[in-house]
Amino acid sequence: MCGIVGYIGYQKASPILINGLIRLEYRGYDSAGISTIESDGLSIMKDKGRVRNLYDLDGIDDLKGTIGIAHTRWATHGKPSKENSHPHQDNSKTFSVVHNGIIENYNELKKFLIENGYKFYSDTDTETIPNLIHYYYMKNKNTGIQRFLEAVRNACADLKGSYALEIICKDYPDNMIVTRKDSPLVIGKGNGENYISSDIPAILSFTRDFYLLNDFEIVLLSRDEAKFYDMDLNNIDKKTKTIEWDATSSEKNGFDDFMLKEIYEQPTAIRETIGSKFSENSKCEFEELNFDKDFLSNIKRIYIVACGTAMHAGLAGKNAIEKLCRIPTEVDIASEFRYREPLIDDKTLCIFISQSGETADTIAALKLSKSHGAKTLAISNVIGSSITREADYCLYTHAGPEIAVASTKAYTSQVILLVILAIYFAEILEINTEKVNSLKKEILTLPKKIEETLKSSSQIEDFAKKVYQEKDIFFLGRGVDENVAKEGSLKLKEISYIHSESYAAGELKHGPIALIEKDVTVIGIMTDEKLVEKTVSNLQEVITRGAKTLIITNQKIDESMFDMVINIPKIDCFVSPILSIIPLQLFSYYIAKEKGLDVDKPRNLAKSVTVE
Ligand code: F6R
Repeated sequence: MCGIVGYIGYQKASPILINGLIRLEYRGYDSAGISTIESDGLSIMKDKGRVRNLYDLDGIDDLKGTIGIAHTRWATHGKPSKENSHPHQDNSKTFSVVHNGIIENYNELKKFLIENGYKFYSDTDTETIPNLIHYYYMKNKNTGIQRFLEAVRNACADLKGSYALEIICKDYPDNMIVTRKDSPLVIGKGNGENYISSDIPAILSFTRDFYLLNDFEIVLLSRDEAKFYDMDLNNIDKKTKTIEWDATSSEKNGFDDFMLKEIYEQPTAIRETIGSKFSENSKCEFEELNFDKDFLSNIKRIYIVACGTAMHAGLAGKNAIEKLCRIPTEVDIASEFRYREPLIDDKTLCIFISQSGETADTIAALKLSKSHGAKTLAISNVIGSSITREADYCLYTHAGPEIAVASTKAYTSQVILLVILAIYFAEILEINTEKVNSLKKEILTLPKKIEETLKSSSQIEDFAKKVYQEKDIFFLGRGVDENVAKEGSLKLKEISYIHSESYAAGELKHGPIALIEKDVTVIGIMTDEKLVEKTVSNLQEVITRGAKTLIITNQKIDESMFDMVINIPKIDCFVSPILSIIPLQLFSYYIAKEKGLDVDKPRNLAKSVTVE
């Protein structure tokens, strides 16, 4: 989705802005642009295509301004084109604006502005914003910076929808205004300079100290200061937060692609997420939660709500919570949850999982649950992201920045956090003590076992080379393995563009088996001793029909039946998805590489889906 970068300081702004945009490329975009304050007014340089193309634009090297705003656009209103790219300006070129989000009432605003003499040159919703600011600016009788602030505030008060905005004005060459509603924006504090971005990694190499903006906060930036205001322009006190992420963790460190690097970072991500939440002999603790027996006994139902891969992690969470804590738990896709009139009341706990913490449907589902009186708990990988601030309680995965669009280490970190959460609940409820104690021991062995699992890489690569030209690939599993089949299939689709389906193995004969013919590839996952025989029988049915088979297992099976078997370490079924998904992540990766595709930035996809 769209990305924002901004700079106000003493250095030349344009290279900082373009480099920041390059760091945001992973989010997906179709055009890019910057605007700076120069001695003769506002510069504006933009076009469709890659960020690097900005370096080729006439005049870019002549920019000297030390204040500027920048944007990568992901087309929503209007096709990718120079006219539709951001920044946008008002008719008199007094203001330059970049915008993430969607202005839902832009037609209404455009009509109003046209009636007041404004002209429009793009198809975007954003172009209404600089013109609306200009409209209020011209009406304002104040002098000084108050005039700029009030014009922005008045315009924002008219906007419906979501926005993160950076605004510069030619009349105030030493200031910038930024604000947000339902779209992320952070300010990185430097020494005599401030950096602005929609995403922390884009500016992490400059500072670790960040101001995290809340909805409807307006910030007046100068080189040395960030003044925060509410919508009535009352001052707000705000402290910086220090982000522990390391800037080099947003770089490739010798790996060909971020996705491969992130797959290999899973032992660390899991180790960090487990952290010191428990030891073999101590009870599980979450400093951030103060749940007790009364609180949990009062919870009659849990919903786990998320999108895509995060929702698949939720399925592993449901398995652990229901089996260890005996609390009925449902997993919902956020975009469906909102509209299905879910049964929520004050005895409901709703858990929202989002790596980015900015997924629009997940945030909307969270707001809906709160409005019905539910207790809400957010799980995210990004400190200070929107869901973490909206929810009553919040837990973080410690996966580090995930840059590749296809989620890998965030998924396994979400699974482990959910299983530990289930253990925490079970210990408070004082049930399944023996099982919980043995599971805790198993969890502590995970980082080592992930390292062992990663050794299957070359075997997987060989199989990927054999099947990368396939049109359809099927994934089968039972119990927790069915959840992994779903995630494996999603990973394959999104980065290799191969059509793929996942099924509960037992469902095969109720329809899908009609699709199995000679040489179709079927992948079977078997990590549950109780279910392995049944899944083998289902796989026998596809082998009889000529399918090629790849098996991921930690069980004793007759390997001679299958084309390739990847043996992974034995581990409790509650956490086996953390191991069994790894060969499937590698499988998708190697297929996409064999096809010569851009693994980190698959077509049509964005890292953070901030529109509904
Ligand atoms: C797939 C993938 C997506 C995300 C989904 C939710 O690899 O990454 O399916 O899991 O868009 O994103 P977050 O977790 O940021 O809410």
